[in-house]
Amino acid sequence: MEQHWWQQTNIYQVYLRSFYDSNQDGIGDIQGVIQKLDYLKGLGIGVIWISPHYASPMDDNGYDVSDFYQVSPDYGTIDDFKELLDKAHSMGIKVITDLILNHTSDEHQWFVAASNPFHPEHHKYHDYYIWQPPKNDEQGQKMRPTRWMGWFGSPAWTYNEATNEYYLHIFSKKMPDLNWRNASMRQEMKEMIRYWIQLGVDGFRVDASNHLEKNWEFPDDFPGYHHFSSLPKHHEYLKELGSDIFVPMDLLTIGESGGASKEEALQYAGYGSNEFNMLIQFGHCWADVDDSNSVLMGKWAQGKLRLSSIKESFQNWYEMLENVGWNVIYWHNHDQPRIVSHYGNDSTYWFESASMLAVALYLMPGTAICYQGEEIGMTNVDYQELSMFKDVEVFTEYQNMLAKGLSHEHIMTIIRARCRDNARSPMQWSEAAYGGFSKVSPWMPSNGNYLTINVKNQLNQPTSILSLYQHLLNQRLSNENITHGKITFLDVSSQKDFSYLNTGTTEEYLVLCNFTSSKIMKSLNGLNLANYSLIYNNYFTLQNLENEQELLPYESQVWKRVISQ
Ligand code: BGC
Repeated sequence: MEQHWWQQTNIYQVYLRSFYDSNQDGIGDIQGVIQKLDYLKGLGIGVIWISPHYASPMDDNGYDVSDFYQVSPDYGTIDDFKELLDKAHSMGIKVITDLILNHTSDEHQWFVAASNPFHPEHHKYHDYYIWQPPKNDEQGQKMRPTRWMGWFGSPAWTYNEATNEYYLHIFSKKMPDLNWRNASMRQEMKEMIRYWIQLGVDGFRVDASNHLEKNWEFPDDFPGYHHFSSLPKHHEYLKELGSDIFVPMDLLTIGESGGASKEEALQYAGYGSNEFNMLIQFGHCWADVDDSNSVLMGKWAQGKLRLSSIKESFQNWYEMLENVGWNVIYWHNHDQPRIVSHYGNDSTYWFESASMLAVALYLMPGTAICYQGEEIGMTNVDYQELSMFKDVEVFTEYQNMLAKGLSHEHIMTIIRARCRDNARSPMQWSEAAYGGFSKVSPWMPSNGNYLTINVKNQLNQPTSILSLYQHLLNQRLSNENITHGKITFLDVSSQKDFSYLNTGTTEEYLVLCNFTSSKIMKSLNGLNLANYSLIYNNYFTLQNLENEQELLPYESQVWKRVISQ
């Protein structure tokens, strides 16, 4: 197995806008991250991944970049950014940034020129984006070139009157897609990437990396996602970046793709593949979607949790990359609901389920990513008004659901359970106003439960969720038995428990987790139970290990044994 520094570390995802506001303007910023570096160090973090820090009109909170070379004034200056790199590096923390390659903002100078035929550089930049002429309906009215839909629930084409063309945008209409077939655009992107590396960035999380290639035949399908997702040619672009920049510069690179076959997984994250070191995939993220009998599509259609799918996904990825590549493990990021609300129980069993979820994840092999606020059990938002939400996707989907005949109340319930804003509310540092995130009203409302769920309440409390995260993450920094172990799920098909063995070279961990709010009996028949000792139990009771092990609601137990050499 290849050995790399990024296998024995923990990544923490900072959602900059909501992490910590140092200058009291209601928006998280780079100085705010600097002020919390000690906190992150104590948590056992070796790498921070910062969500987009570039200049942006913030249609999609910075994923719509208007200038890749500028730091958004919302977040600070280039000097702040350099200071962050220096301070983090001096503490042994690496910094990776989001790299957005699929699209720009429509306010980026390339698109401004591309969309205006009178702009002096129109001809150079027009081909940086993807254009199609209108179709005409029977009455001669202009129609979109295809019925493709974007990921935020609106059509993927918008008309540009000045050129009498439609441009493609698979996210919001303010995020036109780049044409990766254009070599000079690719060249400019590579220069931009080198700029940030020269400044000292240690790597990138490459946003939407499986969407770079499109089907240029433009078939008129609905919703058409497969015409702009995971098409074979996108690997060519990634390999070009990998062999020209990522690999020679020894960066940490993490791609993003919904799923992948074994062959593709090896291309993305196989050793020596020249694409990424790891891949963020969504196999375990929506294990409760059921749109088979629903007017709603995809994640908005919530069904029963299929715990087996979560295990299948982790197992599948482990097997696909075992000894030939490297896995990342994470529960959720800024695009999914909070994990304790999604797969746990954020009311009656808040502590039990948050701690159980931590144990279930962080004793698995791979490199872990912890999402900001997860370490204190932050929950989904409690917003009552539509205006309290901020995500562009919420508003397009709200209209879609209204058009399907759903009532306002029903839609609000769905949005509160499934939307991306759940993960984006301000970090809860203390019981002070706005959860100590800022002294002024934040850019999006704080979750009302900051009075009880906050860092201050949990720091130095040995039985808190935060202490558990500190312990687990610090263990992972030094214990190869966990990060490089071999995982064996005990019963993938069970919809109640998430239990596995993680077998390292000198230690083995037996992890037993109850994913339900009822007591269950877990059969351990067939396992040799000798020599295990209990090292954690979120009910803090002494236990024996039996063939039929009782697990209370959301109980988790970690048993360890030394493997004789
Ligand atoms: C990011 C989203 C973003 C989208 C468009 C995704 O992969 O994680 O937050 O809206 O790309 O950039």
